[in-house]
Amino acid sequence: MQNKPFPKLVNDRIIKVAKGETPDKLPVWVMRQAGRYLPEYQELRKNNSFFDICQNPELACEATLIPIRRFKVDAAIIFSDILVVPQALGMKVKMVPGVGPVITDPLTVESMTKLNVEGVISRLQYVGDAITLTRHRLNGEVPLFGFAGAPWTLMCYMVEGGTSKTMSKAKKWLYCHPDAATQLMDMLAEIITDYLLMQIKSGAQIVQVFDTCVEHLDRELYSKYGLPQLKRIASNLKSQMKACKIEVPLAVYIKGAHFFVDELDSLGYDVVSIDWTISPGYAGGCLHDKNVTLQGNLDPCALYAPKEKLIEMVERMIADFGTRRLIVNLGHGVYPDTDPEAFKTFVDAVHAVRL
Ligand code: CP3
Repeated sequence: MQNKPFPKLVNDRIIKVAKGETPDKLPVWVMRQAGRYLPEYQELRKNNSFFDICQNPELACEATLIPIRRFKVDAAIIFSDILVVPQALGMKVKMVPGVGPVITDPLTVESMTKLNVEGVISRLQYVGDAITLTRHRLNGEVPLFGFAGAPWTLMCYMVEGGTSKTMSKAKKWLYCHPDAATQLMDMLAEIITDYLLMQIKSGAQIVQVFDTCVEHLDRELYSKYGLPQLKRIASNLKSQMKACKIEVPLAVYIKGAHFFVDELDSLGYDVVSIDWTISPGYAGGCLHDKNVTLQGNLDPCALYAPKEKLIEMVERMIADFGTRRLIVNLGHGVYPDTDPEAFKTFVDAVHAVRL
């Protein structure tokens, strides 16, 4: 399986747009497109825990393909989670229904030295195996995204032990233990770079870094702690890809980027995904020369709206972005109570836009 050549990519809209080329139609995919809103996924979850699906390449591949069979989305994203990295570092992560992820032994400044960094990428090889298998099963239909969490977002979950309204425990490190915070995020940035390179070598055709907890910081804190790490990952990944003679586009999703929209094209990523609180026109206006592809950003709640209204909102968003260098997505992952029909309406409305 490892050495067999991958099937030729048929629908390359996303790759084209990521590189600044013009596609035949606007590309669209959605974060969490293989999640709980789909009955086929719920069926798969009845007999398997969340992390069992992640860790079993056959099951992860099956979950990845569910939305591809149902909708005309222009990309697949490997079924996994950002928290498989803390797990591979030795932390105990559970997915608790109705609660979300729970880390039973959250990180403290004292326990940092216990993280099992040695061999971490080989303990994540199952993600690479799932990617290789999925590339073959996709048969070139659409490109496959790999992904990882950004250092700040991973640190938030590792220190908080789960989701939090304020991320105040993680922020406390920035004020009280700045050296430990920097040390942890430096370490995570290196791991994430190696992890994404492993995913690319395994067959990922584009990779996305998720920095979802940025809304808890301001410009000063994010410029000091988060941004340099994001930039480092992109530049190191690009030089490592060059050394291996592979080239795939890099994407980043930042939730809460409103305070540095003007800098989004200087992060070193080909694609920058914004959340729904930033108006597309404003983002476009801040990035005059736009040498970056924007991705986003419909409010996931817009999928609750009546069909006609939803189509109207999709059209308005696209008009506001402009169709040049645009990958359509939601401004965050699709919610579990979304009607799959609304998802279909969203995807079809994007493809109906004439370029
Ligand atoms: O389809 C895809 O986008 C690929 C798979 C994917 C998942 N999580 C699967 C998942 C991706 C890209 C993620 C990213 C992720 N995971 C992020 C960053 C992006 C974001 O959405 O904020 C974060 C912060 C996590 C951590 C995480 N995992 C949380 C906070 C939760 C609970 C969220 C909720 O709505 O309850 C998860 C659970 C999760 N990750 C599910 C899925 C399909 C649902 C798990 C289940 O079946 O019970």
